[in-house]
Amino acid sequence: MDSFIINGQRKLQGRVYISGAKNAILPIMTATLLTAGKSTLTNVPRLNDFKNMAHLLRFLGAKVEHENEQMIIDTKEINQYEAPYELVSKMRASIYVLGPLLARFRKARVAFPGGCAIGTRPVDLHLMAMERLGAKIKVEHGYIEAECPDGLKGSVIEFPFISVGATANAIMAAVLAKGETIIKNIALEPDIDSLIDCLILMGAQIEKVNNKELLIKGVTELKPFEMKMIPDRIEAGTMLLAAAITKSSITVSHCEPKHLEALLSKMEQAGCRFEINNEDCHPLQGEQPFEITIYPAQKINPVDIVTEPYPGFPTDLQAQFLAYMCLADGSSNLKETIYPDRFMHVAELNRLGADIQVSGGMAIVNGVAGFSGAEVMATDLRASATLVLAGLAAEGMTKISRIYHIDRGYERIEEKLNNLGADIKRIL
Ligand code: EPZ
Repeated sequence: MDSFIINGQRKLQGRVYISGAKNAILPIMTATLLTAGKSTLTNVPRLNDFKNMAHLLRFLGAKVEHENEQMIIDTKEINQYEAPYELVSKMRASIYVLGPLLARFRKARVAFPGGCAIGTRPVDLHLMAMERLGAKIKVEHGYIEAECPDGLKGSVIEFPFISVGATANAIMAAVLAKGETIIKNIALEPDIDSLIDCLILMGAQIEKVNNKELLIKGVTELKPFEMKMIPDRIEAGTMLLAAAITKSSITVSHCEPKHLEALLSKMEQAGCRFEINNEDCHPLQGEQPFEITIYPAQKINPVDIVTEPYPGFPTDLQAQFLAYMCLADGSSNLKETIYPDRFMHVAELNRLGADIQVSGGMAIVNGVAGFSGAEVMATDLRASATLVLAGLAAEGMTKISRIYHIDRGYERIEEKLNNLGADIKRIL
C-alpha cells in the first residue's frame, strides 16, 4: 500500500491548476444512463472514484473511454439494471444509479451502501424520493429492490433537511417521469447546479421556482450531451490551505472563486489576503476562468467555524481548516453539523503535536507553535489531504500510510505540490 514521505517546512510558490470537480462529475456520469447514446465529458481528471464509477457503468453495459481529461460514455447497449455489492461497496456514490435506472428501465436493484469512516450516512431520503415518484421499494438481502412498471409519475418531494445525493437522485428520476414534479428544500451545491445544466443540455425541462425549489416537467426522451466539467472547489480550497499552513504565497488557477466564498472569508478572518483575477493567460471558450493568489497570514488568528450545506462552510474542508487552526495564535471551535463524527483526523493530528479535544460534534483547537513530523495513518479522503497539509508544515519527516484514500479525490496531489516546491515522495 502506498505511503507518502514528506519533508516539511518548505515554502511553496508558483501556480497550481485545479482539476474538474469529483462531486460534480460523479452524478453526471450516471446521468448518461438517462439516454441511449454517446456523451462526452471534458475536464475530467484521473481519480479512482471515476474508475470505480466507470466499472459500474461498464457492468451495466456502457462503454467508457477516458483519455486526456476527456471521458466518452456510450449508453446505447445498457442491458442491466443491477448494481452489485462488490462495486457499490467501493464507492457510496454508486447510489446515483438508482434514479436513472428506475427512470429508464422502471426497475433497479442496487446494493445498499455500507458504512463509511465519516459517519453512518443512510440513504432513506433517496428512497423516500423514489417512492414519492411512485416506485415500489423494498430492501432485502442487502439490496434495494425498486420498480415502477407503469413508469415514474410526477409528484411533490419535500426534503426534511438538505441532502446533496438525494437531491441529485430525485432530479435524475423526475426528468423522465410523467407529469410535473416539485422538489422542495433542495441542495444548492455547485455540483447540483452543474447536474441541472447537464440535464437541460440533454433536453430536460427544469426550472428553479425559487432558491430552494425546482419544477420539473417530465419529458419522454433525453439526448446525449457534450459538457465541460466545473473546477473542484474542494481541491482549490485544499491548495489554498496548503499555502496558508506553510505561510506561502501561491496562485490557484482555473478555479471558481464564488464557489469558495465561505472559505475565503474565514481565511481572511485568520489574516490571509487574496487577489482574484481573470486568467487572461489562456481564456477558454465562452468562459472567463479565474485565479486566486493568496498572501498568507504571518500570525494566524484563531477562527471559529460551523460546517453547513452550501453556501455555508463545506464539511469537505473542515479537516483541512482544522489543521490550519492548529497553528493559530489562540483557541478556535470547529462545529461539524453535517457528519458529527467526522473527526477521524484529530487523533492523527495530535500525533503530529497538535492539541485538539473533540466532544459532541465540536473540536476545540488550542494553537501550538508547530507540528513535528511523525508516522500517521489516513482514514478517509479529506482526512488524508489534511495530514498532507500538516506534513508540509511539520518540522522533520512525516510518513502517511493508507494514502489510497487520497487518490480517490485528488489527481496526482504530490506532483502538484512538488511543482510548487514541496518535498513529497510516494513510496509503494
Ligand atoms: C455529498 O455526499 C458529497 N459526496 C460528500 O463529499 C459531502 O461531504 C456531502 O455531500 C455534504 O456536502 C459526493 O458528492 C459524492 P448528503 P452525500 O446526502 O450526498 C444525511 C467528499 O469528501 N443523509 O448531503 O452522501 C447524511 O448522513 C465526500 O468528497 C441522511 O440522513 O451527502 C449526512 O449527515 C464525503 N439520509 C447529511 O444527510 C439520506 O438519505 C448530508 O448528506 C441522505 C443523507
